[in-house]
Formats: sequence, structure tokens, C-alpha cells
Amino acid sequence: MNSTDTAKPPKGLFIKTYGCQMNVYDSERMRDVLRPLGYAPVDGPEQADLVVLNTCHIREKATEKVYSELGQLKRMKEASGGRMTIAVAGCVAQAEGEELIRRQPAVDLVLGPQAYHKLPEMIARASRAVGDRLETEFDTLEKFDALPKARAADGPTAFLSVQEGCDKFCTFCVVPYTRGAELSRSVEDIVVEARSLASQGVREISLLGQNVNAFHGAAPAIEGGPDWDLGQLCRHIAKIGGIDRIRYTTSHPRDMDDDLIAAHGDTPEMMPFLHLPVQSGSDRILKAMNRGHTAAEFHDIIAKVRTARPGIALASDFIVGFPGETDADFEATMDLVRQTGFATAYSFKYSRRPGTPAAEMFGQVPEDVKNARLQALQALLRDQQTAFNASQVGQTLDVLVTGKGRQPGQVHGRSPYQQAVHFNGPTELIGQIASVHVVDSSLNSLTGEFISAREAAA
Ligand code: SAH
Ligand code: SF4
Ligand code: F3S
Repeated sequence: MNSTDTAKPPKGLFIKTYGCQMNVYDSERMRDVLRPLGYAPVDGPEQADLVVLNTCHIREKATEKVYSELGQLKRMKEASGGRMTIAVAGCVAQAEGEELIRRQPAVDLVLGPQAYHKLPEMIARASRAVGDRLETEFDTLEKFDALPKARAADGPTAFLSVQEGCDKFCTFCVVPYTRGAELSRSVEDIVVEARSLASQGVREISLLGQNVNAFHGAAPAIEGGPDWDLGQLCRHIAKIGGIDRIRYTTSHPRDMDDDLIAAHGDTPEMMPFLHLPVQSGSDRILKAMNRGHTAAEFHDIIAKVRTARPGIALASDFIVGFPGETDADFEATMDLVRQTGFATAYSFKYSRRPGTPAAEMFGQVPEDVKNARLQALQALLRDQQTAFNASQVGQTLDVLVTGKGRQPGQVHGRSPYQQAVHFNGPTELIGQIASVHVVDSSLNSLTGEFISAREAAA
């Protein structure tokens, strides 16, 4: 790798990230790629030589935000005398390509999620104003191979991408088009990255993938090969010294296999929290969405998971107002929520995405109906979340302390169930797991009292 030329002042880099955790991870990797070129993060776009918008295309609003942000950046670029380079990365870049440059000529570079390792080359081309400003080829393996192996950790928690892309083609979703076909990284690569993170004090790793439990990574040099599933990978990462907590996101009900469920029971490092998007409780709608399972099958999976890991907290995603959704279909979703009980959940109004099959379906649901359904669903989910948080009061939880709290003398962190926890304690606790007695709860967090700190695992 090139060494940084210390004689030159660093160039300012500002990356703004939208969308899912995969984008958060990708933004970190872009920082890793740009560091040897002398790019150092700055606090705002005004001070930046390079601004990267890492974009999300999942709903219409997410895409619109990018264009309004670009309008503001254009003015800043003009004020900078043209010094600023503007790059658009992520899923909007992949989906819109050339159209982005046409709609906003101030954009210098457009690169899709599989092209981040080509950023240095593209910046060089842009500065000489030669060649293509667009890089949206799909070559996931090349990307993973070309990205620097070393990772700069930032605090005690980290994301680690293990799988990318999706072959499920849910009829509402753009991801199979923006991220391409499903592909897993090799176990060896993942383990190298996990070890590097652990050696920098990371204690919790969240394994990421658009369909993370479809993971089937090659493991030639390791016993149990040739291909490992996610359960095997989690058990292996759990053995890395210093790694106390493992999470994974986002999973699909169809890939919730018995071995992964068993791993929740036999691997204490796997946190008792499962984010399993279901989208709807109506079999008719699940079928139209091409989800490949029924509501009853979802309930069966949840029952198995709860047997393997009693007390596990559940999270999910929901869409209301999918084309053709009737009041009865929506009621089936409400029933599924009541029967399951979620610790937390994300819910969205269906957004029509160009190029997806559902966009062309009959029976598009009027906006006011979508609004009313979303409100009803969110009220129910809020009640469940409030009740789940309240059920922790009086208990003692392990909290991974991640930073200073808002009040002086306060720190905050995450419970095993992914809840935010605040308590009074010294800043030396940051990066450690503390035993905390929960005394109060609200919709979004817990308040506790510090009991003791646990030493890092060997
Ligand atoms: N891979 C994950 C989710 C990816 S997108 C999965 O399979 O579940 C994150 C969430 O956005 C989805 O779970 C879904 O609830 C929501 N979503 C995706 N497309 C959408 C659309 N067109 N309109 C509204 N919500 C959408
Ligand atoms: Fe989208 Fe469905 Fe793939 Fe999830 S499984 S990313 S919702 S197509
Ligand atoms: Fe958005 Fe792309 Fe993630 S569309 S949700 S950033 S995979």
C-alpha cells in the first residue's frame, strides 16, 4: 500500500450515509480505502475536498432526499471555487447511474456498491477530467478481495459484512437490483477481519448481509468445510479472544435453518435478540410479496427459536398498504404482532418502486388508508416495546458501554436485547461490559445503576 505523504496537508473527507447498516459498513470501508491517499474525515461538507453521499433507494423518500442534498452540495461546491469533488455511492447510484449526472451535473463521480475499491482510480480520473464518471459494474468478489484487509475500529462495537446481495426478489423491493446476486465472503477473510477488530478492542460484532442467514461461505482451510452456514460462522467467531457478543442482521424467515436456531441455544456469545422481518401477517399478501412462507410457518420458526433460546427478544419489519391489502389482510398483520410480541420493530408504508413487479400491480392502496394502518400498527408496536422495556426493570443486565451519556457522570451502552441503557459511572467503563441494575424504563431506553465491571474475555 502507498504510505501517506505527511508533508502534504490532509484532504478533507465527508461521507454522509443513508439507509441500512450495510451502507454504514461500506462508508467505513471507503474511509479505509481513502486514508492512504491522504483523506481524513472532517466534521461537515463545507470543509471537505471530497463529499461522498452513500445513498439508499429503498423507498421513494430516501431517493428524493439525495437529490435535495445534492442541490445544497452544488451551492457549496460553487462557493468552494469548484475545489469540492462530489461522489454519489450506494443504491441510488446503482439504480439511477447516468441519470444522476444528467439531473445534477455538479456530481463528479457515481459509483455503485460493488465499486468502492475503485474510488482512488476514479478520483484520479475526475481530477484530470478524463474518462468515465460512472462505475456500476457488479463484481462483489473483486470488491471484497481488493478492499484493505486491515480495518480501523471505532469503539467497542463493529459491523462486519459477510454476505451481500439478494436472490429473493420480493415483489416490492429494489435490493436485488441495486446490490446484485447473493454472494458470501470466505470464512477465512471474515475471520481475519474479526480478529483485527478484536485486537483493537471490539467486543461486539454484528455480522451483516442483505440476507445474512443465507450465508454459505467457503471454509476450505478450516475443519467442517467446504461451506459453512451462519450458525457455524457464529460459533467460530465466538471463540475469538475478546469477542463477547455476536449479532447478525438482516435475516429472512426462509433461511432460518435448524443449525442457526440451535446456535442461539448453544453459543452464549450470540445475543438473545433476533431481527426477522415478516412484512405481513396475511398469507395472501405474503404470497403476492413473494416472501415464500406463510404466517403459520413464521409462527413455527418463532416457536423453535424461543425453545432454543428462552427469553430471546424479537424484532421485525412490516409493510402496510401493499397493493391489494384489504382491511382483513391488515388485521391479520395486527394479529401476528399480538400473537408474537416484539421488543422493537420497523414499519413502513408501501412505497412504489419503479422496475419492481408490485409497482405494476392492481389495487394500489390510497395514501389515507396507508396512513391509518401505519398509525394503528405503530401504536400496537409502541405498546409492545414499552412493555418489553418495562419488563427489564428490577433485573440486572450486562451492558456493553459504548460512550458518554448526555448528563455529566453518565455513560450509556446496549443491553443483550439491544436496548439503550443509561447509568451513572466512570468513563473508564467505555469498551467494557458492566453489570447494571435496571431501575426505570421508557419507550426508547432503560435507566440503571452500576453494580460492577466485567474484565475482557481472554
Ligand atoms: N433484506 C431484508 C430487508 C431489506 S430492506 C429482508 O429481507 O427483510 C428493509 C426493509 O424495508 C424491509 O424489510 C421492508 O420492510 C422495507 N421495504 C423494502 N422495500 C419497501 C418498499 N418498496 N416500500 C416500503 N417498505 C419497503
Ligand atoms: Fe428485499 Fe426481499 Fe431481498 Fe429482503 S429478501 S432484500 S426484502 S428482496
Ligand atoms: Fe437502502 Fe440499499 Fe440498504 S436500498 S436499505 S442502502 S441495500
